[in-house]
Amino acid sequence: MSLTKITNIDAVELQEGIRNLSFQEDGDDASDASSSRGQQAISMENEYTQIKPYAGMPKEVLMRFSSKPCYRLPREILFWLIIACTLALIAVTISVVALSPRCMGWWQMSPVYQVYPRSFKDSNSDGVGDLKGIKEKLSHFEYLNIKSVWISPFYKSPMRDFGYDVEDFRQIDPIFGTMEDFEDLLASMHDKGLKMIMDYIPNHTSDKHIWFQLSRNGTEPYKDYYIWVNCTRDKPPNNWVSVFGNSSWEYDEMRQQCYFHQFLKEQPDLNFRNPRVIAEMTDIIQFWLKKGVDGFRMDAVKHMLEATHLRNEPQVDPNQDPSTVDTEFELYHDYTYTQQGLHEILTQWKKEMDTYSRESGRYRFMVIESYDYEEIDKTMRYYGTDYVTESDFPFNFYLLYLPDDLSGNQAKSLVHLWMSKMPKGKWPNWVVGNHDKPRIGSSAGKEYVPVINMMLLTLPGTPTTYYGEEIGMVNVNVSVIQDPFGQNDPSNSRDPQRTPMQWNDQLNAGFSDSKNGTWLDIAPDYSTVNVELQQADPDSTISQYRAISLLRESELSLSRGWFCFVWSDVNVFAYLRELDGLNKAFLVVLNFGKDTTTDLSSVSGLPDTLTVHLSTVPISQKSFPKSGIPTSKGQGLLLEYSTSQRFHPNHESECYVSEKACYLPQLNILYNC
Ligand code: GLC
Repeated sequence: MSLTKITNIDAVELQEGIRNLSFQEDGDDASDASSSRGQQAISMENEYTQIKPYAGMPKEVLMRFSSKPCYRLPREILFWLIIACTLALIAVTISVVALSPRCMGWWQMSPVYQVYPRSFKDSNSDGVGDLKGIKEKLSHFEYLNIKSVWISPFYKSPMRDFGYDVEDFRQIDPIFGTMEDFEDLLASMHDKGLKMIMDYIPNHTSDKHIWFQLSRNGTEPYKDYYIWVNCTRDKPPNNWVSVFGNSSWEYDEMRQQCYFHQFLKEQPDLNFRNPRVIAEMTDIIQFWLKKGVDGFRMDAVKHMLEATHLRNEPQVDPNQDPSTVDTEFELYHDYTYTQQGLHEILTQWKKEMDTYSRESGRYRFMVIESYDYEEIDKTMRYYGTDYVTESDFPFNFYLLYLPDDLSGNQAKSLVHLWMSKMPKGKWPNWVVGNHDKPRIGSSAGKEYVPVINMMLLTLPGTPTTYYGEEIGMVNVNVSVIQDPFGQNDPSNSRDPQRTPMQWNDQLNAGFSDSKNGTWLDIAPDYSTVNVELQQADPDSTISQYRAISLLRESELSLSRGWFCFVWSDVNVFAYLRELDGLNKAFLVVLNFGKDTTTDLSSVSGLPDTLTVHLSTVPISQKSFPKSGIPTSKGQGLLLEYSTSQRFHPNHESECYVSEKACYLPQLNILYNC
C-alpha cells in the first residue's frame, strides 16, 4: 500500500525533478539559439522563485537555490560570524588566563594555627593532650576561620624533648593515640576543609631510634648514619657546643667514639653527608605525603650539616677562657650552622613534595624553622633563588623582638626589616609566639595581646598563631619543671609557654578530666581567661581575633593588596592596605606605647575622615579626622575609608605587594596589572 500511495508532496517533488531534468538537458541541444536558451532560463528562474527549498529536494535544484544571493549572503554572513566568534572566544580565553592573577594558596589564605599536642586537649583523662582531643576541638579552628593547623610532633618518642626526639618516624606515640587516630583526625580535618601541617625533624633522632642502636654497635649500613669521631672519654674532638648548653660531643662506651648532638645528648645528629641518610629521610617525607598530610614544618634545619674538618669555632670573645665556653652564644657557628649543601637537600625535598602537589587543591606546603638572628639574609635564602623555590617561606621570627623595645618605631622597624629583605614577589609571614619562646602576652604585656593580634592579621602574608594567643594566654610558673632545657637552666625553661589550653572555667580549664592533675600546671587565670567565656563577649580578644580573621579573608585589600607604611613614632605604628581598582581601603593604627593622638594630616593621599571598622578597645566614635586619631595604650584601630586615589603610586619606597592584582568593578574580577 505505502509503495503505491503518492502523496501531494511526492507529486510536487516528482514534478520538480522532471522540470529540473529538462533544465539540465537544455545544454545537450547545441543548435538552440542562445536567445531561446536565455528565455528558457528566465522562465525557469521565474518558476523556481515560485517554489521555496525544502527537505528532500534534489541536490541539483538545491544547488540552484543556494547560489542565489538571498540564500548565499546570509549563509556567508553566518559562516564568518561563527569564525569571528570562535576567534574571539579563543582570544578571550587566552587573555583571561594571561590576565588572571595567580589564585592564592590555602597556606596564604588563613593564619597557620600551631597546636602543641600535649597541651591542646586531653581525650583520655591522662593529663596529656592527644590526637583524639584535637579532633574534638576542630570546631575551634572553624570558629576562628583558621584553615591550616600545624601540629608539633606526635611521632613515637621517649619524650626527652617532648616529641622532638623521634624514636620512630613512622609511628604515633601511644601518649597521643594510634595510627588510626591520626588517620581519623586527618580525614576529619579534610572533611572540614582544614589542612594539616606536620612537624618534620631531620637534624636528629632519639638515641632510642633503631638506626642509632645499630650505629653504636657498628652494624652496616647504619654505621655512618650519625657523626662519629675518635675521642677520649674526657676530651671532646673540638670546642663545639650544643644549643642546650655544654659540649655537643658525647662519648659512647659501646662504640668508644664520640657522637655529635646539637641538642640533647639523647638527640644524636644524623649524618647528612651520607646519601643513605638523605634517602631514608626522603622516604619518611613520602610516607606522610602518601597518607595525605598537607605540609611540613622543617625543624632546626640550619643544624643539619657540619664542616668535616672539625676545626674549633671562633669565640665571640677571643679573650674568654676556652674552658668556660659552654653556650651557643659564645661561639660563631661558622662550622656547625647553615653549611654548604643544606639548600640542595631542602630543594630536593621540596621537589619531592611538589610531585604530590599536582592534584588540584592538594598543594603540599613547606615552612622552615631557622633562627638566624641578625643574619636575616641567611633566613631569606630559604625562599629559594630566582630559578628554584625552596620553601614557601621561612618562619619570620623577628616580631619576637617587639617586646625588647615595645614602641611604634620598633614595630615598624621589625616589619620593615622583613619586607625590605624579602626577595621580590615572595610571600611574608609573621610569628609572635611558639612552643620555644615566652608568650607575647608575658613578654609584651597582657594589654598588648589584642593589638598584636590585629597587627598579625592585617599585615600582608600569613600570620602564625600559637594556641592560646587568641585568648591572651600568658606564661605560667609551673611547679615542676618538665622541659630538659629548663632543667639545665630554669631561666630558659619552655614550660611556661606550654601549659594546657584554657577552654572553660571547669576542672583543668576544660583541657582534661584527669583527677590526678595535668602534665603541666593549669594557668591560675583560667577562670577568667578561657575560650568559652570570651566567645560570649563580643569585645573579647577571641571575638576580635575571629572578626579580623574573617575580614582578612573577605577583603581583597587585606588578603592580597598593597601594604604601605604610613606612620611610626614612639607610641604608634600605622600602615594602610589598598588594592588597585577598589575604592575601599583600610588604615591600621596600632598603639604600642602610651595614650596619644596621631596627626596624619601631612600624609597625602589619605581622605580627611576615616570610619572606625573595629577597635580593640570599645569606643563610641564612629569616625575620626585624619588630623587627630586618638589611641590609648595597647589599642588597635582598624579604620576604613573610600577613595578613588591610590596611595602606593606616589609612595613607592614605602609600599610592598607580593603579586600585583587589580580589581575590575564592572565585571567583579581581579586581573594582572
Ligand atoms: C626545634 C624545636 C624545639 C626543639 C629543637 C630540637 O627548635 O622547635 O622545640 O627542642 O628543635 O629538636
